[in-house]
Amino acid sequence: MIQLEVPLADRSYPVLVGAGVRHQLSRVLPAGAARVAVVTQASIPVPVDPGVEHRVFVMGEGEEAKDLSTVEDLCRQWARWGLTRADVVVAVGGGVVTDTAGFAAAVYHRGVAVVHVATTLLGQIDAAIGGKTGVNLTEGKNLVGSFWQPAAVLCDTEVLGSLPPREYRNGLGEMAKYAFLGVDGLTDLPLDEAVAACVRCKADVVGSDEREAGRRAILNYGHTLGHALETAGSYDLRHGEAVAIGLIYAAELALRLGRIDEDRVAEHRRVVAGYDLPMRVPDGLDSDEVISLFSRDKKAVSGVTFVLDGPQGVEPVRVEDPAILRAAFDAVR
Ligand code: GLY
Repeated sequence: MIQLEVPLADRSYPVLVGAGVRHQLSRVLPAGAARVAVVTQASIPVPVDPGVEHRVFVMGEGEEAKDLSTVEDLCRQWARWGLTRADVVVAVGGGVVTDTAGFAAAVYHRGVAVVHVATTLLGQIDAAIGGKTGVNLTEGKNLVGSFWQPAAVLCDTEVLGSLPPREYRNGLGEMAKYAFLGVDGLTDLPLDEAVAACVRCKADVVGSDEREAGRRAILNYGHTLGHALETAGSYDLRHGEAVAIGLIYAAELALRLGRIDEDRVAEHRRVVAGYDLPMRVPDGLDSDEVISLFSRDKKAVSGVTFVLDGPQGVEPVRVEDPAILRAAFDAVR
């Protein structure tokens, strides 16, 4: 088992990584927790034992269930059960569960402790770490939420073996991102250590900029095009697959801005190909459609902030010239 910490002074918390760490749940519960509300989905075959009185609350599947009505349902069920602020919520699942249950925990009784048992690769290396919680509105993803740090995160790598291949690849897209945030040799590491290396990187970033005033934005590397492809919607790309294409797009953009050279672009392509992730945008999208999705406003295309690689590493950069956005897009078609 590998134990890491997200360093946030008196709100620091442990992240345990390894096969079977879900069995450490009772050990990481906040002291004095008398009752636990376990939130999970019917499709997640991961029972947990908090070692105290508990009840399981099953939420719906998919991004559609990550909404305010699920938050209301959970809070009302918790209230009927008598969950108090001294109790604990345990979210068992991927990002949909930890984001939704984490947000419900943040607002129930103005805040009840939450522990995440992350059961997907994407959850373990990204969604469950760092305290971003929230739900979607019809108008967009993650538009309502809060920062609510968990009391602990368990990344049980044993359960990753039963993930559907596409869900596993979804996590690999985020893993590819860390290769450009200073995490070297990821593909040579055993799975536990690779997960731990990503968590260590994210914990360091979150510890230095919890509320994304600056540096934390680098965790969005590859996400601007990625989100646009997801928003376009009808292209059947998982988040990690869209981010993988977004990483290459960001490299092509950085090349055209003179921030990196051709070798570094090739490095992006090698890393993404090494994870067997998609490298080109699906047919049917044109550059103007994509640029309008970047800016969320079809008329105002005067500039977009990207996270781009460069001499100082990955950092936010404002790109004003739509011609450069288009040229980079042509390179990933
Ligand atoms: N997923 C990006 C972040 O947690 O900041």
